[in-house]
Amino acid sequence: MKQEKSVEIVPDTRLMEDIGATSFTVPEAIVELVANSFDARIGDDKLIIRITLSPERISVIDDACGMDVASLSEAIRLSVNMEKLKGKSDVRKGMFGLGMKTACASLGRVWSITTRPDGGKEEHSVEFDLREWSKRSGSKNPEWKAVIKSRNPDPKGPLGSSKHGTAIVITELRDKNPMPGAVLERVGRAFKPHIESGDIIYIGKDKAVPPPYNLIGGKRAVIDEPCLGDRITGWVGLDVKTHNDDSFGLNLYRKGQLLVAWDKSFFPVHLMTSRIVGEINLDFVPPNFHKKGFETQSREWKEAYKKMREVLKPVVKASRHASKGKKTALRDTEAIQILDGAFEPQKEQQNEAGEQTSAFHDDEKENHVSDGEVRVENGMLILPDGRIKIDHMVQDLEDEEIPWSHIFDPEAGEIQVIINKGSLIYNSTKDIGTMALLGAGDCLLNFLMHEMHMDPEKAWRARNRWLYDTIRQGSGRD
Ligand SMILES: Nc1ncnc2c1ncn2[C@@H]1O[C@H](COP(=O)(O)OP(=O)(O)OP(=O)(O)O)[C@@H](O)[C@H]1O
Ligand SMILES: [Mg+2]
Repeated sequence: MKQEKSVEIVPDTRLMEDIGATSFTVPEAIVELVANSFDARIGDDKLIIRITLSPERISVIDDACGMDVASLSEAIRLSVNMEKLKGKSDVRKGMFGLGMKTACASLGRVWSITTRPDGGKEEHSVEFDLREWSKRSGSKNPEWKAVIKSRNPDPKGPLGSSKHGTAIVITELRDKNPMPGAVLERVGRAFKPHIESGDIIYIGKDKAVPPPYNLIGGKRAVIDEPCLGDRITGWVGLDVKTHNDDSFGLNLYRKGQLLVAWDKSFFPVHLMTSRIVGEINLDFVPPNFHKKGFETQSREWKEAYKKMREVLKPVVKASRHASKGKKTALRDTEAIQILDGAFEPQKEQQNEAGEQTSAFHDDEKENHVSDGEVRVENGMLILPDGRIKIDHMVQDLEDEEIPWSHIFDPEAGEIQVIINKGSLIYNSTKDIGTMALLGAGDCLLNFLMHEMHMDPEKAWRARNRWLYDTIRQGSGRD
C-alpha cells in the first residue's frame, strides 16, 4: 500500500540566529550592508553612508532610495531573489537575498531597520530580537512573523531629517570591541571605485579612503581584454618592494566591490613575482556564496583565468627583472621597459611628496665584504657580516631560456634560488637534484661577485666550499 503525507518543513526559528553565527567578521558584515546601500542608489546620485561603531551599537545609515512596506517585507525574508521583484540590473551586487540578514545576525542579536522610501510620506521600521526568536525554537510549527511599523518621519530617529534612506542599527553585539580602524581600511579598499567616483563613506568622523599603491616609476599598465563577450579591465604595476608578507597580487573587483584582496592565482608565486600588484574588474564572473570570492568552477572564471595568465606573462618577466641580482636604478628602468613593451602604460599620480619613488632606496648601502674568510656551516654561508641561508624552489618561470634565477632578501638574509621548471635544461636532464645544486652554486657565485662585490677568485672558492659541504652533508659523509 502506498501512502503519501505532506509535512510542514518550516525551519526552526533558531535559523535566524544561526545564519550569523560564523558568517562574517565585523568589517565583512559592514561591507555587506554598504553593498546594499550602493544597490539602492537613486539614479546617478552620489551617496553618503555613515557608519558608527561603539561597544553597544553599530549603525549603517544611507541616503539611498529606501524601501516601501512591500519591499521591506520582502527584504527581510531569507533568500528572496530581489532581482525578480526589482528587475535585473547590470550593476547590482546583491544576488542571494541573504546578505543583510546574515550580516546583521553576525553583528548582534537585536537589529532594527528603519527606512524612508524616496517619494513616500512615511517611514517604516522593523525590529528583530534574536533572543525572542530563539525562545520560539522547538515548536513544530514556529511562527515566522515580523511586525512592520509605519509612522510619520521622526527627525529624532536614526534617519534624522533625511528625505529618503535606510538605517540599520544593531545592538547586543557579538563583538563588544569593534575596531573602527579595521572597518575603515576594509571599506576603503572594498568600495574604492565608488569612493573615487564621489560617493562618501564615513566611519565615525573619518572618511574611508582607498589605501595608496607605491609603484616603480608610478607606472600602471592598463588592461582591457575581451572575454566571453565582456571585458576584463584594470591595471597592473610593480611595487617598489618585494614582499615577504601577503600584500601583493591583484585586488579583484566585481561591480565596484572588492571580492578578493591580493589574489595570486594568475601568476607563479615566489619572491621574484612579489612586486606584482594591480586592480582587476571581473564584473561578469559570478561570485561564490557569501561573496568572499569568485565561483572558480564557473566557465567565466576559467576563461578569465586563461586570459589573465597570458596577459600577465610580461608582468611576471618585468617583476623578475626588477627583483633580480643587484638592485640598481637601471634594473628599475629596464623592468618598466619590459612592461611598456607589452602594455600601454598610464602614469600614476605622483606620490604625496611629489617625487618619484625608487625601488632602490637602500642602494647606497653597498654590501662590501671585508677580507675575512667565508665559511660554510650546515649549508649556511657565514660571511663576516652575517649568515646567509640558501634556499631553492622549483617554479615555472615561463621562459625556456632561463635555467634558474635568484633573489636576495636582505631582511630574511636569504638567497632564494628558483629552478625554472619551464627551462630546456630542466626538461633535458635526468638528474634534477644535481642540476638544482649546480644552479644554486651558480646563483651563489653571481651573488657574491655582483652583489657582495667579492673578489672573483674568493667568490669562486666560497662557491666551491659551499657546494662541497652541502653535498657532503647531504650524503651523510660529514
Ligand atoms: N540599504 C538599503 N536600501 C534599500 N534597500 C535595501 C537596503 N538594504 C537591503 N535592501 C533590500 O533588501 C534586499 C535584501 O538584502 P540582502 O542583502 O539580504 O539580499 P540581496 O542584497 O538581495 O542579496 P545578497 O545576499 O547577495 O546580498 C535587497 O535586495 C534590497 O532590495
Ligand atoms: Mg545584499
